[in-house]
Amino acid sequence: MRIGVLTAGGDCPGLNAVIRSVVHRAVTNFGDEVIGFEDGYAGLLEGRFRTLDLDAVGGILALGGTILGSSRLQRDRLREACDNAQDMAREFGIDVLIPIGGEGTLTAARMLADAGLPVVGVPKTIDNDISSTDRTFGFDTAVGVATEAMDRLKTTAESHQRVMVVEVMGRHAGWIALESGMAAGAHGICLPERAFDPAHLVAMVEERFSRGKKFAVVCVAEGAHPVEGTMDYGHGEIDQFGHERFQGIGTALARELERRLGKEAKPVILGHIQRGGTPTAYDRVLATRFGWHAVEAAHRGDFGRMTALRGTEVVMVPLAEAITELKTVPKDRMDEAESVF
Ligand code: F6P
Repeated sequence: MRIGVLTAGGDCPGLNAVIRSVVHRAVTNFGDEVIGFEDGYAGLLEGRFRTLDLDAVGGILALGGTILGSSRLQRDRLREACDNAQDMAREFGIDVLIPIGGEGTLTAARMLADAGLPVVGVPKTIDNDISSTDRTFGFDTAVGVATEAMDRLKTTAESHQRVMVVEVMGRHAGWIALESGMAAGAHGICLPERAFDPAHLVAMVEERFSRGKKFAVVCVAEGAHPVEGTMDYGHGEIDQFGHERFQGIGTALARELERRLGKEAKPVILGHIQRGGTPTAYDRVLATRFGWHAVEAAHRGDFGRMTALRGTEVVMVPLAEAITELKTVPKDRMDEAESVF
């Protein structure tokens, strides 16, 4: 069998672990040939690929990013890919394509599958917002980075009696903010799923300082919004990939808290630091398992599906199911951390 692999969308710690796992399982166990398309679907459309043998994936398990490169796909190029799906498979001689990516990548994967290209998807995103899988690799790493950042910020915040507003990733789902905020003991958490009232954060900080505490940490997801009319913060325009261009809630909220409290409030935007660098052991293991199961599925002819974690088991689920809705933070998970909302 000849397998094509690509990584698309925003990168994520653990992508290389999947690539390595696919190659190991496919080459060593099945005697397959694996080729890797460069820069996501762009490489597929432009015929840019290279052979991935065991040497090519040596030493990449702990490496962040993706050795294949990544990119987002514009809609007109996706249509082009779908129109030529079967021709491309013939041209490159691939029996199956394994795209590793988030919601956009998996949506494209499903369209390609519908257009006749045998596809087995592997989900990834640090945001952990893909329904049908309990976890995506990359999330554990991002939560660890954000937690460590808040742990560190606490000591400097206390030295200067400051409020730290830490902005983490999460466009529509606040999983990173929820879990890193809980793990670091943040005093306030703001998620995209529930509009926040800055007055509550002001009250929380004042209450802490009245008890002799000398700092506070607020963890805010990049996609969080204040309750309409409570502070000056608008929605951003939509970019060519359909993503809202956020206006910088971390900075806006820090400014607002400083104004209302008369205390220093500093924004700290963690941004892509959460996505870079080596994956945690958990993410390496999950990514490796996903790669293994993707190859097994390819050999079973289990196309149009993707790997997913259910409990502790890796199963295959229809791509269609995975992309129908985003997995957002449910109310009961917020209730568990109620004191900080
Ligand atoms: O989807 C993952 C994610 O990390 C989001 O949380 C974030 O908004 C987005 O990617 C940013 O991606 P990029 O800067 O690569 O476009």
